[in-house]
This record gives sequence, structure tokens and C-alpha cells, in this order.
Amino acid sequence: MSNKVMIVSGGASGLGFAAGVKFAKNGYNVVLIDIDEEKGKKAEQHINELGVEAVFCLCDISNKEQVQRAARITQERFGRADVLINNAGLEVRGSIMQCTEEDWERLYDINLKGIYNMARAFVPMMIKQGAGAIVNTGSILGYRTVGERAAYSSSKGAIDTLTRSMAFDLADNHIRVNCVVPGAIDTPLLRGSINDSPDPAETERFLGAKSVFKRLGTSEEVANVMYFLASEEASFVTGAAYFVDGGWSIL
Ligand SMILES: NC(=O)c1ccc[n+]([C@@H]2O[C@H](COP(=O)([O-])OP(=O)(O)OC[C@H]3O[C@@H](n4cnc5c(N)ncnc54)[C@H](O)[C@@H]3O)[C@@H](O)[C@H]2O)c1
Repeated sequence: MSNKVMIVSGGASGLGFAAGVKFAKNGYNVVLIDIDEEKGKKAEQHINELGVEAVFCLCDISNKEQVQRAARITQERFGRADVLINNAGLEVRGSIMQCTEEDWERLYDINLKGIYNMARAFVPMMIKQGAGAIVNTGSILGYRTVGERAAYSSSKGAIDTLTRSMAFDLADNHIRVNCVVPGAIDTPLLRGSINDSPDPAETERFLGAKSVFKRLGTSEEVANVMYFLASEEASFVTGAAYFVDGGWSIL
């Protein structure tokens, strides 16, 4: 058992929860950051039962004060931050003409400024330790276009660019920064979007057909790559975008 600590935003559900479980199974203590208190507490209990220490912080990553509070809790409870998974994200449907200004600003505040807030709060601990690993969560929609996702797709494309800037700037501190690029993954977020569509069965078939395996991916398949990127196995990997998309990007 190590005394290492991973922090994951959006840790109550989907990819973030799967990442928490994966790291916990490999001996990490886990800090779960989320705005969903009920799911967050359940996730905390589930991970504690794996024999490591999990802490849930009710925290909106777009709120600087809340993020700084989560970092203080992490510092007081564990005294370190080894891995930061910037995973929480908001998806809003709409073309540039349909997306409201309010939705545009909220989405950018979470998807991009959220990473800024999290880095500003947690990276100082990594700098002090002289090591760390960060994994940001992008999306295939940052690289491939589907209709009516102007704000979401552009924010996810920017996460790729931000990952490279962070990797360059933090290299001297021995902090590696990479990005996972999920395709269509079967999480509550994707299920919601499938179920809200006019023809859910057709939407699921359409999304599955975006993979050369003709299926949706699982949260665990993404969490495995997050774990690899944060691990010493990836010690010469930084600034990279790892596609976990069942081949969508080769089509
Ligand atoms: N599921 C997919 O197919 C897919 C594909 C590409 C990218 N992604 C990205 O993966 C990430 C995780 O998505 P998911 O599918 O696991 O979704 P999910 O809805 O299952 O989980 C997201 C979690 O983030 C939390 N969250 C939302 N806003 C937050 C905020 N401001 N502060 C803190 N927590 C917040 C939610 O409460 C939720 O628990 C997102 O960034 C999403 O854009 C998902």
C-alpha cells in the first residue's frame, strides 16, 4: 500500500468514479471532487471499502474558493497530491446560433477555467514534492464534428492545447501533463443524452457505429488509460493526447 494521493474532479460518476476505483485498487488514497453530494458520498463509501482512504469534497470546480478549500482539505488530510485527474465537464447542446450566452459562459467556466482553478490549487503541492502527474479529459468532439456542439467541442479542443502548454511549463518541476480523448463511453452523461434524443435506439446504434468495434466504450477502459498515463510506466510521456475512442479518430 502506498501513501500516494490522487484527486479527481467529477469523481462521483462515470469516468471520474471509475478512475477513483482504479487508483484505489492500486493503493492510492482518493479525493473525490463533485457537485453531486449524494453520489459523491456513495462513491466515497465504495472506495473506502476498497481499503484505502477516500474523501469526498462538495466542490464546483468553476468556483475558485471551493477548489482552494478542497486543496486545503487534501493538504490537511494527506499532506500531498501525486495525481490530478481533471475530468469534470459540462456538455451543452446547440450550434453557435442556438447556444445561449449563459450556457456558453457556464460551460467554459467548468470545462476550461475549472482546470485552471484546479491546477492553481493543487500544482503547488506537486511542485513542493518535486513530482506529479496530471491527466485532463478531452473528447473526440474536440477533433471530430457532430452537429450542435459548438461550445462543448471547442472547449474540448482547447483542453488539448492547454495540456501541451501545461506539459511544457511544468516539465522543469517533473510534472507530466497528458490528456485522454474519450470517444462514446457508456456513462450516465452519455445515457442521458441517448435517452433525451428523439430515437434513443437509433442514437445508440449511431454512436456505437463510430467505433470500429461497433460498441460504446466503458468507463473502466478510459480509467485504465488515465492510470497508465499517471504511472511511472508513462515516465517519458508528456503533452500527449491519448485517444480512447474505439477507433473513431481513424475513420
Ligand atoms: N461519456 C462520454 O461519452 C464522454 C466522451 C468524451 C468526453 N467525456 C468527458 O468525460 C468527462 C466525464 O464525463 P462522464 O461521461 O463521466 O459524465 P458523468 O455525468 O457520468 O460524470 C460527470 C461528473 O462531473 C460532475 N460535475 C459536473 N460539473 C461539475 C463541476 N462544475 N464541478 C465538479 N463536478 C462537476 C457531475 O456531477 C458528475 O458526477 C467529462 O469531461 C466529459 O465531457 C465523456
